[in-house]
Amino acid sequence: MSKRYTITAALPYTNGPIHIGHLAGVYVPADIYARYLRLCGKEVLFVCGSDEHGVAISMKAKKEGVSPKEIIDKYHKIIRDSFDSFGISFDYYGRTSSDIHRETAQAFFRTMHDKGCFETITSEQLYDAKEDQFLADRYVIGTCPKCNHPEAYGDQCESCGSSLNATDLIEPKSALSGETPSLKSTTHWYLPLDRYETFLREWIVERHQKDWKPNVLGQVKSWLDDGLKPRAVTRDLSWGIPVPVEGGDQKVLYVWFDAPIGYVSATKEWAALNNTDWKPFWQDKDTQLVHFIGKDNIVFHCIIFPAVLQSMEDYILPENVPANEFLNLEGRKLSTSKNWAVWLHEYLVDFPGKEDVLRYVLTANAPETKDNDFTWNDFQTRNNSELVAIFGNFINRVMVLMHKYYDGIVPQANQLEEVDKEVLVKLAAAPETIANLLEQYKFRAASQEMLQLARMGNKYLADEEPWKQIKINPERVATIMSTALQVAASLATLSAPFLPHTAAKLSAMMQLPPADWNSVKELPLIIHGHKLEKPSLLFDKIEDESIQLQQEKLEL
Ligand code: 2FM
Ligand code: ZN
Repeated sequence: MSKRYTITAALPYTNGPIHIGHLAGVYVPADIYARYLRLCGKEVLFVCGSDEHGVAISMKAKKEGVSPKEIIDKYHKIIRDSFDSFGISFDYYGRTSSDIHRETAQAFFRTMHDKGCFETITSEQLYDAKEDQFLADRYVIGTCPKCNHPEAYGDQCESCGSSLNATDLIEPKSALSGETPSLKSTTHWYLPLDRYETFLREWIVERHQKDWKPNVLGQVKSWLDDGLKPRAVTRDLSWGIPVPVEGGDQKVLYVWFDAPIGYVSATKEWAALNNTDWKPFWQDKDTQLVHFIGKDNIVFHCIIFPAVLQSMEDYILPENVPANEFLNLEGRKLSTSKNWAVWLHEYLVDFPGKEDVLRYVLTANAPETKDNDFTWNDFQTRNNSELVAIFGNFINRVMVLMHKYYDGIVPQANQLEEVDKEVLVKLAAAPETIANLLEQYKFRAASQEMLQLARMGNKYLADEEPWKQIKINPERVATIMSTALQVAASLATLSAPFLPHTAAKLSAMMQLPPADWNSVKELPLIIHGHKLEKPSLLFDKIEDESIQLQQEKLEL
């Protein structure tokens, strides 16, 4: 394991609130990973922030008749609050409208410019004469030349994930006026990605063939095999970071040039606040950089940003980019514009105190290897049959019996029987099994291994029947309860990356020391004489009516 970890989660656009797709694809897995590493005692910096430039923001502002600043301020707060509520444990959540970010992004551009990393190219670009506006990125919509999706954007097709130039679109239309654009000449700075092909192939395909996810490698290889082309890193727009070199008047940096640099600026801002140096997190070879993203961001994090980092010379490259596939909702693609989503700020109102339930469901059903579907029925089943009936039930049985038989004071275990030893052997192996899965970014399987421990605990109690033994063999009950308590105490640590609120409640109830992944390997975790607090329920049942309300909201 590395000495230090810089973990980044894709900066969300602040043109709207965020939904379950964002949480499932990026933020929950990133948070599980960061929490796990912290529990292992690693030095971890987990950064994110609001992506506040680009056409997504200016279009929203235009639609609502307000300034872009009003839009970003509004959604920055809503998004940041949702992350807080769901326990996404960023060390720093920045925003790309900050001064430090502007300075950092401009410094990257200037350095690369001065080193001759860019080419300037004058070409005919799509132009909306009615709006007096060049049509880049989301300002232009047309048919994707790769997959025929009729609503591809000027820089990217969200259906097949292809990265596009606006002029590649078939039958382009201005998203501002609906008019067919004309062509007008303009000059821009381009990053000649073709120059990086050999470096990228050697770095990704040869070095990371085994450790990167097949979906990520597949996309990257297909871009490389198609041949990389120069890509414009500036735009004729008014909203964005001004181009800091001669000839840059009236032009801004392309949002996808400045956004990933936001990870660096967030690190600088965090370091300044904490009186420490930001450089080791980006420039020390002992640091492992991991980018958590959705699959539509793969090209930017696996090709374009690494090319930028490589040109800057001092920077490390990502060790892994564990991109997820997409989450659908009730069989249909999640869509902000079509309001087909479960919005996090609304979930928090409808299901107060159930943040961990959503985290769990999205992890247990994570779109890790293929697109997956979220349904309200599955949400209810996973809550009622897994969190309530397995995890919650096991803990509650242990706690209630402990208070009933021993006033909450842990008894001395007696002679261990084979069945007790079996439980303890499995328990001792669990931290490593779960750790191995987490380190391979298999969060879904890891969450099920964790739940398996609670399942094992339940079965153990059901088989050993302490409630019957108490009358005939109280000595045996002390051993059973002490063994079951080890399982409960282990769960308080092993569930912490997945269910942070629950784990904190469980730890408080059991009066455990701060969670630590290394010491959870060494049993016993809880010994004779330890006093437990009174039990309270960790989860409760979700009734059909609550689910029906959500289904009605979606007009199912
Ligand atoms: O796709 C998006 O929502 C982008 N705002 C992600 C940016 S990730 C990073 F590079 F900042
Ligand atoms: Zn497409």
